[in-house]
Amino acid sequence: MCYYMGMSKKILLSGVKPTGKVSIANYFGAMKQFVDLANEYKSYIFIADYHALNFVQNKKEMEQNITDILLDYLAIGLDPKKVTLFKQSDISEHTELAWIFGTIITMPYLERAHAYKDARAKNKEINVGTFNYPMLMAADILLYGPEVVPVGQDQKQHVEYARDTAQKFNKIFGETFKLPKEIIMKDMESIPGTDGRKMHKSYNNTIPLFASYEEIKKCVMGIVTDSGEGIPKNVYAIHNLLRPASELLSIYESKAGKYKELKELLIEDLEKFIAPLRERRKKFEKDIPRALQILKEGGEKAKKVANAKMEEVREKIGVDVY
Ligand code: TRP
Repeated sequence: MCYYMGMSKKILLSGVKPTGKVSIANYFGAMKQFVDLANEYKSYIFIADYHALNFVQNKKEMEQNITDILLDYLAIGLDPKKVTLFKQSDISEHTELAWIFGTIITMPYLERAHAYKDARAKNKEINVGTFNYPMLMAADILLYGPEVVPVGQDQKQHVEYARDTAQKFNKIFGETFKLPKEIIMKDMESIPGTDGRKMHKSYNNTIPLFASYEEIKKCVMGIVTDSGEGIPKNVYAIHNLLRPASELLSIYESKAGKYKELKELLIEDLEKFIAPLRERRKKFEKDIPRALQILKEGGEKAKKVANAKMEEVREKIGVDVY
Protein backbone atom coordinates (compact mmCIF):
# COMPACT_ATOMS: atom_id res chain seq x y z
CA MET A 1 0.00 0.00 0.00
CA CYS A 2 2.76 2.36 0.92
CA TYR A 3 4.32 1.44 -2.37
CA TYR A 4 1.32 2.73 -4.33
CA MET A 5 1.08 5.88 -2.28
CA GLY A 6 4.69 6.57 -3.07
CA MET A 7 4.22 5.91 -6.74
CA SER A 8 1.32 8.29 -7.07
CA LYS A 9 3.22 11.32 -5.87
CA LYS A 10 4.28 13.76 -8.54
CA ILE A 11 7.91 14.77 -8.77
CA LEU A 12 9.09 18.26 -7.87
CA LEU A 13 12.58 19.63 -8.40
CA SER A 14 14.25 22.93 -7.69
CA GLY A 15 17.73 24.31 -7.28
CA VAL A 16 19.14 27.04 -5.07
CA LYS A 17 22.30 28.96 -5.74
CA PRO A 18 24.61 29.10 -2.73
CA THR A 19 25.58 32.74 -2.99
CA GLY A 20 25.45 34.05 0.57
CA LYS A 21 23.27 34.89 3.52
CA VAL A 22 19.55 34.28 3.09
CA SER A 23 16.96 36.90 3.98
CA ILE A 24 13.37 36.76 5.12
CA ALA A 25 12.41 37.53 1.50
CA ASN A 26 14.21 34.36 0.37
CA TYR A 27 12.37 32.48 3.05
CA PHE A 28 8.86 33.65 2.24
CA GLY A 29 9.54 33.82 -1.49
CA ALA A 30 10.97 30.33 -1.92
CA MET A 31 12.43 28.36 0.98
CA LYS A 32 9.22 28.01 2.98
CA GLN A 33 7.38 26.86 -0.11
CA PHE A 34 9.84 24.02 -0.64
CA VAL A 35 9.14 22.84 2.90
CA ASP A 36 5.36 23.09 2.39
CA LEU A 37 5.36 21.43 -1.03
CA ALA A 38 7.41 18.50 0.24
CA ASN A 39 4.25 17.03 1.71
CA GLU A 40 2.55 16.92 -1.63
CA TYR A 41 5.36 15.97 -3.97
CA LYS A 42 8.29 13.64 -4.16
CA SER A 43 10.86 16.41 -3.95
CA TYR A 44 14.40 16.96 -5.10
CA ILE A 45 16.04 20.14 -3.84
CA PHE A 46 19.64 20.73 -4.70
CA ILE A 47 22.41 23.23 -4.13
CA ALA A 48 23.41 24.58 -7.54
CA ASP A 49 27.09 25.05 -6.78
CA TYR A 50 28.23 24.78 -10.40
CA HIS A 51 25.81 27.53 -11.33
CA ALA A 52 27.16 29.61 -8.44
CA LEU A 53 30.68 29.11 -9.77
CA ASN A 54 29.85 31.79 -12.34
CA PHE A 55 29.77 34.29 -9.48
CA VAL A 56 31.70 32.75 -6.60
CA GLN A 57 35.26 31.95 -7.56
CA ASN A 58 36.94 31.54 -4.22
CA LYS A 59 37.46 28.21 -2.44
CA LYS A 60 36.74 29.41 1.10
CA GLU A 61 33.69 31.37 0.08
CA MET A 62 32.27 28.51 -1.97
CA GLU A 63 32.75 26.03 0.88
CA GLN A 64 31.18 28.44 3.34
CA ASN A 65 28.22 29.18 1.07
CA ILE A 66 27.49 25.50 0.49
CA THR A 67 27.60 24.70 4.20
CA ASP A 68 25.54 27.76 5.05
CA ILE A 69 22.72 27.04 2.65
CA LEU A 70 22.62 23.44 3.81
CA LEU A 71 22.30 24.50 7.45
CA ASP A 72 19.70 27.10 6.46
CA TYR A 73 17.50 24.50 4.79
CA LEU A 74 17.83 22.01 7.60
CA ALA A 75 17.04 24.74 10.13
CA ILE A 76 13.83 25.80 8.43
CA GLY A 77 12.62 22.22 8.58
CA LEU A 78 13.31 20.74 5.18
CA ASP A 79 13.03 17.08 6.08
CA PRO A 80 15.65 14.85 4.43
CA LYS A 81 13.27 11.92 4.86
CA LYS A 82 10.79 13.58 2.56
CA VAL A 83 13.15 15.54 0.34
CA THR A 84 16.21 14.37 -1.51
CA LEU A 85 18.60 17.17 -0.66
CA PHE A 86 21.81 17.10 -2.67
CA LYS A 87 24.58 19.07 -4.29
CA GLN A 88 24.79 19.49 -8.04
CA SER A 89 28.53 18.90 -8.25
CA ASP A 90 28.10 15.45 -6.66
CA ILE A 91 26.20 14.31 -9.73
CA SER A 92 28.50 14.51 -12.74
CA GLU A 93 25.56 13.58 -14.97
CA HIS A 94 24.39 17.21 -14.78
CA THR A 95 27.43 18.58 -16.54
CA GLU A 96 27.59 15.61 -18.88
CA LEU A 97 24.04 16.14 -20.07
CA ALA A 98 24.57 19.91 -20.30
CA TRP A 99 27.29 19.22 -22.86
CA ILE A 100 24.99 17.04 -24.93
CA PHE A 101 22.29 19.71 -24.86
CA GLY A 102 24.86 22.26 -26.01
CA THR A 103 25.32 20.24 -29.17
CA ILE A 104 21.64 20.37 -30.17
CA ILE A 105 20.76 23.92 -29.05
CA THR A 106 21.82 26.90 -31.16
CA MET A 107 23.71 30.03 -30.14
CA PRO A 108 21.01 32.46 -31.39
CA TYR A 109 18.50 30.66 -29.22
CA LEU A 110 20.68 31.01 -26.10
CA GLU A 111 21.38 34.62 -27.00
CA ARG A 112 17.71 35.35 -26.39
CA ALA A 113 17.94 34.44 -22.69
CA HIS A 114 17.02 37.39 -20.44
CA ALA A 115 19.80 36.68 -17.97
CA TYR A 116 22.37 36.66 -20.74
CA LYS A 117 20.96 39.82 -22.32
CA ASP A 118 21.02 41.58 -18.94
CA ALA A 119 24.63 40.57 -18.41
CA ARG A 120 25.49 41.90 -21.85
CA ALA A 121 23.64 45.15 -21.30
CA LYS A 122 25.78 45.71 -18.23
CA ASN A 123 28.68 45.44 -20.61
CA LYS A 124 30.43 42.87 -18.53
CA GLU A 125 32.75 40.36 -20.06
CA ILE A 126 30.59 37.30 -20.13
CA ASN A 127 31.96 33.88 -19.39
CA VAL A 128 30.89 30.79 -21.27
CA GLY A 129 29.31 29.47 -18.07
CA THR A 130 26.87 32.35 -17.98
CA PHE A 131 26.02 31.86 -21.64
CA ASN A 132 25.51 28.15 -21.14
CA TYR A 133 23.67 28.54 -17.83
CA PRO A 134 20.30 27.48 -19.30
CA MET A 135 21.76 24.23 -20.63
CA LEU A 136 23.08 23.19 -17.23
CA MET A 137 19.75 24.13 -15.72
CA ALA A 138 17.91 22.10 -18.37
CA ALA A 139 20.09 19.11 -17.47
CA ASP A 140 19.44 19.67 -13.73
CA ILE A 141 15.76 19.47 -14.39
CA LEU A 142 15.38 16.84 -17.08
CA LEU A 143 17.53 14.16 -15.41
CA TYR A 144 14.86 13.73 -12.73
CA GLY A 145 11.70 13.97 -14.81
CA PRO A 146 9.86 16.40 -12.56
CA GLU A 147 6.29 17.41 -13.34
CA VAL A 148 6.82 20.71 -11.55
CA VAL A 149 9.70 23.11 -11.02
CA PRO A 150 8.95 25.87 -8.51
CA VAL A 151 10.94 28.99 -9.35
CA GLY A 152 10.77 32.76 -9.02
CA GLN A 153 9.39 34.78 -11.92
CA ASP A 154 12.95 35.57 -13.05
CA GLN A 155 13.62 31.87 -13.71
CA LYS A 156 10.49 31.20 -15.75
CA GLN A 157 12.31 31.53 -19.04
CA HIS A 158 14.95 29.06 -17.91
CA VAL A 159 12.28 26.42 -17.33
CA GLU A 160 10.92 27.17 -20.80
CA TYR A 161 14.41 26.54 -22.13
CA ALA A 162 14.42 23.19 -20.36
CA ARG A 163 11.08 22.32 -21.92
CA ASP A 164 12.22 23.34 -25.41
CA THR A 165 15.45 21.42 -24.98
CA ALA A 166 13.55 18.30 -23.93
CA GLN A 167 11.30 18.62 -26.96
CA LYS A 168 14.19 19.08 -29.33
CA PHE A 169 16.07 16.11 -27.90
CA ASN A 170 12.95 13.94 -28.05
CA LYS A 171 12.41 14.95 -31.67
CA ILE A 172 15.94 14.08 -32.73
CA PHE A 173 16.59 10.96 -30.64
CA GLY A 174 13.14 9.70 -29.67
CA GLU A 175 10.97 10.12 -26.58
CA THR A 176 13.33 10.43 -23.60
CA PHE A 177 12.45 13.43 -21.44
CA LYS A 178 9.24 14.43 -19.74
CA LEU A 179 8.31 18.08 -20.31
CA PRO A 180 8.53 20.00 -17.02
CA LYS A 181 6.27 22.85 -15.97
CA GLU A 182 7.16 25.79 -13.79
CA ILE A 183 5.28 26.81 -10.67
CA ILE A 184 5.83 30.51 -10.17
CA MET A 185 6.41 31.19 -6.51
CA LYS A 186 5.34 34.23 -4.55
CA ASP A 187 6.52 37.47 -6.05
CA MET A 188 9.51 38.62 -4.05
CA GLU A 189 9.45 42.02 -5.75
CA SER A 190 6.62 42.88 -3.40
CA ILE A 191 8.78 42.46 -0.30
CA PRO A 192 10.59 45.73 0.35
CA GLY A 193 13.98 45.92 1.98
CA THR A 194 14.90 48.44 4.65
CA ASP A 195 15.43 51.15 2.01
CA GLY A 196 12.09 50.56 0.30
CA ARG A 197 13.56 48.97 -2.82
CA LYS A 198 12.93 45.27 -3.23
CA MET A 199 14.74 43.21 -0.62
CA HIS A 200 17.89 41.95 -2.29
CA LYS A 201 21.42 41.10 -1.21
CA SER A 202 22.90 43.36 -3.83
CA TYR A 203 21.15 46.40 -2.31
CA ASN A 204 22.37 45.74 1.21
CA ASN A 205 18.84 46.21 2.49
CA THR A 206 17.91 42.75 3.73
CA ILE A 207 16.70 41.40 7.03
CA PRO A 208 18.70 38.17 7.45
CA LEU A 209 16.57 35.11 8.12
CA PHE A 210 18.74 34.07 11.05
CA ALA A 211 19.38 37.57 12.37
CA SER A 212 20.26 38.06 16.02
CA TYR A 213 17.95 40.21 18.12
CA GLU A 214 20.41 43.08 17.84
CA GLU A 215 20.51 42.74 14.08
CA ILE A 216 16.74 42.68 13.85
CA LYS A 217 16.56 45.86 15.90
CA LYS A 218 19.13 47.60 13.78
CA CYS A 219 17.46 46.57 10.51
CA VAL A 220 13.97 47.56 11.59
CA MET A 221 15.02 50.89 13.08
CA GLY A 222 16.68 51.61 9.77
CA ILE A 223 13.56 50.98 7.67
CA VAL A 224 12.80 54.05 5.62
CA THR A 225 9.44 55.55 6.57
CA ASP A 226 7.77 57.97 4.26
CA SER A 227 5.20 60.01 6.07
CA GLY A 228 1.81 60.19 4.46
CA GLU A 229 -1.31 58.72 5.88
CA GLY A 230 0.58 57.76 8.99
CA ILE A 231 1.00 54.16 7.90
CA PRO A 232 4.65 53.47 7.14
CA LYS A 233 4.25 51.29 4.08
CA ASN A 234 7.62 49.53 4.16
CA VAL A 235 7.22 48.62 7.83
CA TYR A 236 3.71 47.42 7.08
CA ALA A 237 4.73 45.33 4.06
CA ILE A 238 7.39 43.50 6.06
CA HIS A 239 5.02 43.07 8.99
CA ASN A 240 2.45 41.62 6.64
CA LEU A 241 4.71 38.61 6.09
CA LEU A 242 4.15 37.67 9.72
CA ARG A 243 0.57 38.74 10.38
CA PRO A 244 -2.49 38.90 8.15
CA ALA A 245 -3.89 42.24 7.04
CA SER A 246 -7.02 41.56 9.09
CA GLU A 247 -4.94 41.87 12.26
CA LEU A 248 -2.48 44.45 11.08
CA LEU A 249 -4.77 47.10 9.67
CA SER A 250 -6.48 47.93 12.92
CA ILE A 251 -3.16 48.03 14.76
CA TYR A 252 -1.63 50.33 12.16
CA GLU A 253 -4.70 52.57 12.14
CA SER A 254 -4.82 52.88 15.90
CA LYS A 255 -1.12 53.74 15.96
CA ALA A 256 -1.13 55.94 12.88
CA GLY A 257 1.94 58.16 12.76
CA LYS A 258 3.58 56.41 15.71
CA TYR A 259 6.41 54.97 13.70
CA LYS A 260 8.60 54.10 16.62
CA GLU A 261 5.89 52.05 18.32
CA LEU A 262 5.01 50.26 15.10
CA LYS A 263 8.65 49.44 14.52
CA GLU A 264 8.98 48.12 18.05
CA LEU A 265 6.04 45.85 17.44
CA LEU A 266 7.62 44.61 14.23
CA ILE A 267 10.87 43.94 16.09
CA GLU A 268 8.95 41.85 18.62
CA ASP A 269 7.11 39.89 15.95
CA LEU A 270 10.28 39.29 13.95
CA GLU A 271 12.07 38.09 17.05
CA LYS A 272 9.22 35.69 17.85
CA PHE A 273 9.40 34.30 14.35
CA ILE A 274 13.19 34.18 13.99
CA ALA A 275 14.24 33.01 17.47
CA PRO A 276 13.19 29.35 17.04
CA LEU A 277 14.79 29.21 13.58
CA ARG A 278 17.99 30.66 14.98
CA GLU A 279 18.01 28.05 17.73
CA ARG A 280 17.47 25.21 15.30
CA ARG A 281 20.27 26.48 13.11
CA LYS A 282 22.61 26.62 16.09
CA LYS A 283 21.91 22.96 16.79
CA PHE A 284 22.81 21.98 13.25
CA GLU A 285 25.89 24.22 13.36
CA LYS A 286 27.17 22.18 16.29
CA ASP A 287 27.32 19.07 14.16
CA ILE A 288 28.32 20.12 10.66
CA PRO A 289 29.68 16.65 9.75
CA ARG A 290 26.20 15.26 10.34
CA ALA A 291 24.63 17.91 8.13
CA LEU A 292 27.18 17.18 5.43
CA GLN A 293 26.41 13.49 5.73
CA ILE A 294 22.74 14.22 5.00
CA LEU A 295 23.82 16.08 1.86
CA LYS A 296 26.10 13.27 0.82
CA GLU A 297 23.43 10.63 1.27
CA GLY A 298 20.99 12.74 -0.69
CA GLY A 299 23.59 12.80 -3.45
CA GLU A 300 23.85 9.03 -3.44
CA LYS A 301 20.09 8.76 -3.89
CA ALA A 302 19.98 11.37 -6.63
CA LYS A 303 22.94 9.79 -8.40
CA LYS A 304 20.98 6.57 -8.98
CA VAL A 305 18.17 8.42 -10.69
CA ALA A 306 20.47 10.63 -12.75
CA ASN A 307 22.67 7.74 -13.74
CA ALA A 308 19.76 5.63 -14.98
CA LYS A 309 18.58 8.53 -17.13
CA MET A 310 22.06 9.13 -18.52
CA GLU A 311 22.39 5.50 -19.50
CA GLU A 312 19.22 5.87 -21.49
CA VAL A 313 20.54 9.09 -23.06
CA ARG A 314 23.89 7.56 -24.03
CA GLU A 315 22.07 4.65 -25.58
CA LYS A 316 19.71 6.92 -27.52
CA ILE A 317 22.47 9.13 -28.95
CA GLY A 318 24.52 6.12 -30.05
CA VAL A 319 27.66 6.31 -27.93
CA ASP A 320 26.84 3.20 -25.95
CA VAL A 321 28.38 0.65 -28.29
CA TYR A 322 29.17 -2.12 -25.84
N1 TRP B 1 18.88 29.31 -11.73
C1 TRP B 1 18.20 29.15 -10.48
C2 TRP B 1 18.27 30.45 -9.70
O1 TRP B 1 19.12 31.27 -9.94
C3 TRP B 1 18.81 28.03 -9.66
C4 TRP B 1 18.69 26.73 -10.37
C5 TRP B 1 19.70 26.01 -10.93
C6 TRP B 1 17.49 25.99 -10.57
N2 TRP B 1 19.23 24.88 -11.48
C7 TRP B 1 17.89 24.81 -11.29
C8 TRP B 1 16.15 26.19 -10.23
C9 TRP B 1 16.94 23.86 -11.68
C10 TRP B 1 15.21 25.24 -10.62
C11 TRP B 1 15.61 24.08 -11.34
O2 TRP B 1 17.45 30.66 -8.84
